[in-house]
Amino acid sequence: MSEIAQLIIGDKTYELPVIEGSEGEKAIDISKLRDQTGYVTLDIGYKNTGATQSAITFLDGELGILKYRGYPIEQLAAKSSFIEVAYLLIYGELPTEEQIKKFNYDLSHHTLVHEDMKKFFDGFPSKSHPMGQLSSLVSSLSAFYPESLKPNQTAEELNLSIIKVLAKMPTIVSWIYKKSLGHPYIYPQNKYDYVTNFLNMTFGQRTEVVEIDPVVVNAMNTLLILHADHEQNCSTSTVRIVGSSASNIYASVSAGISALWGPLHGGANQEVIEMLQKIQEDGGDTDKWIAKAKDKNDPFRLMGFGHRVYKNFDPRAKIIKKACDDILEKLGIDDEVLEIAKKLEEVALKDPYFIERKLYPNVDFYSGIIYRALGFPTDMFTVLFALGRLPGWIAQWKEMKVHKEPIGRPRQIYTGATNRDYVDIQDR
Ligand code: CMC
Repeated sequence: MSEIAQLIIGDKTYELPVIEGSEGEKAIDISKLRDQTGYVTLDIGYKNTGATQSAITFLDGELGILKYRGYPIEQLAAKSSFIEVAYLLIYGELPTEEQIKKFNYDLSHHTLVHEDMKKFFDGFPSKSHPMGQLSSLVSSLSAFYPESLKPNQTAEELNLSIIKVLAKMPTIVSWIYKKSLGHPYIYPQNKYDYVTNFLNMTFGQRTEVVEIDPVVVNAMNTLLILHADHEQNCSTSTVRIVGSSASNIYASVSAGISALWGPLHGGANQEVIEMLQKIQEDGGDTDKWIAKAKDKNDPFRLMGFGHRVYKNFDPRAKIIKKACDDILEKLGIDDEVLEIAKKLEEVALKDPYFIERKLYPNVDFYSGIIYRALGFPTDMFTVLFALGRLPGWIAQWKEMKVHKEPIGRPRQIYTGATNRDYVDIQDR
């Protein structure tokens, strides 16, 4: 028999259905609560609200478990490629050889952006933040592919929109980088796989052939896989909620990019490196900065530490820390900020403030050190997070559409003034 939750308000008892997920997670279904009782629930920041039922990603914050479609992140990071993981997230299964061949073919035939889009790149000041450019450029794709505006696309049309946004994103990201340098854009080439093509457009030259180091390709694949989805979070829930109004995929992803930009979310990777550099320039006294992070009168927070749901460890951070050591060694890079990061982590993990609050390094604590070693400037880090998260946003957007979820529309508890009569300006 399925479980029932009982809610007592005054002298009345209400019964609410209990929903159970495939990993045993339980939720009280309050969707009819207001009709039954006149009450709504209040949960600022959605700390304890399940906004959907999803079969894409499972996460257990207490046990530090992360799985995409049932596959542990550790196995995917070690054995898979980013594009295979993208397929898995979007279509639900690991692809066969035939399926991945077709997927790669389709992607490589949609990598070009319309030549007119170059005018947008030209219009941005060269120092403007890549995330602002990215969200505008992705949204502007809707202008070039107006068929995406149809709210009821057929399955084929919807799939074509998915392929287009996934295929064009690396071109847009690398062109943003080239623009910041004032260098000519490098066009996509069908002979390369998704990640190599991106790296070639980013680090390649028009005047000579630049060999992309396989160590760099592997590192990039690992980082992108680790960022590919993370169930409901600020940007993903934004993508779902924007899409729930029947907005097109480009507008929905663009909104996700804007949500990711903030330093409390994806923007943390840029902040971490800037923080580590600041600590290094200040003499490297980690105790001083840990004390600042604990001081409630000081706005400083230890960036790359803490997570809304991971309260034991972030499994992605474990993989990244090891990858960071490996990659720096393989590339022969000795980065002092890595030592500062390790020292900060060591001190913080022994400190009662961080222990009591269950604050551990998150995925972004070490990712920036790898991006730096690969040659990316700091302000590109969050854009790389967006590139990685794109398949997750797409999979979640598609699932929301396939489930025909209703438009997202939370309630509120109003706390403002009650009835007031209008006062003419001269009498105020
Ligand atoms: N440094 C110092 N204190 C912290 C930190 C930190 N990084 N994070 C949380 N705390 C304290 C916070 O002050 C609060 O203390 P108290 O209970 O005494 O008021 C307590 O820990 C709980 O923090 P919270 O802000 O209520 O927790 P939250 O779940 O709302 O926020 C968070 C989670 C990730 C926004 C927060 O931990 C944070 O700001 N971390 C730094 C930014 C960061 O690294 N963000 C990247 C997250 S991972 C990438 C992604 O998926 O977005």
